[in-house]
Amino acid sequence: MIVAIDGPSGTGKSSTSKAVAAKLGLSYLDTGAQYRAMTWWMLNNGVDVDDAVAVADAAGKPVIVSGTDPAAPAITVDGEDASGPIRTQEVTAAVSAVSAVPEVRARMVEVQRAAATSSDGIVVEGRDIGTTVFPEATVKIFLTASPEARAARRSGELNGAQSVADTRAALIKRDAADSGRTTSPLAKATDAVEVDTTQLSLEQVVERVVTLVEEKRDTR
Ligand code: DC
Repeated sequence: MIVAIDGPSGTGKSSTSKAVAAKLGLSYLDTGAQYRAMTWWMLNNGVDVDDAVAVADAAGKPVIVSGTDPAAPAITVDGEDASGPIRTQEVTAAVSAVSAVPEVRARMVEVQRAAATSSDGIVVEGRDIGTTVFPEATVKIFLTASPEARAARRSGELNGAQSVADTRAALIKRDAADSGRTTSPLAKATDAVEVDTTQLSLEQVVERVVTLVEEKRDTR
């Protein structure tokens, strides 16, 4: 059982994915956190994130390990807890450049497929899960929301440290980079169910996704 949840940032992907996994007793994998962890390592190790050749050369070096418990998502880089530092604005600003490098993606996809193999069932959130990482996923969801709703949510998560207008501009810039890259861009799989979360509460979105998964389970 693989549940793929893709979509741009601020659509409620992480909250939804964790809640769905917890409700259904499945594991959980945040692939965005893995690209952030790779980016954090590059910044810490003096790699110029805008130099794709340097990023590609270093992509095999960091050891990134993700926990898969939806109640306590954890991520380490070379054994060090990275869950706090990967959320800084410095990492957020650099992550699209790093995640566009094919060697980085190849490495991460390998880790993601291994995590699914060693679980009894998993909810995986990201940008290319339904299209590239798990094209055979049991259920594929693509979350969307208006740019205003997304910016308001993200600004709230940052406790107002960044204005809604600045957050909106940064989100739109990151979406354009993530959607425009050559290797497995942010995209809706043709067989994904699109859920617009603009007017929905988290509970409503979770309910919707859980129902879709249960329907699929019943027909298998
Ligand atoms: O979901 P997030 O905002 O934490 O993701 C951070 C970045 O990682 C996002 O801007 C694009 C990249 N990413 C990706 O390229 N592929 C994925 N499967 C997940 C995230």
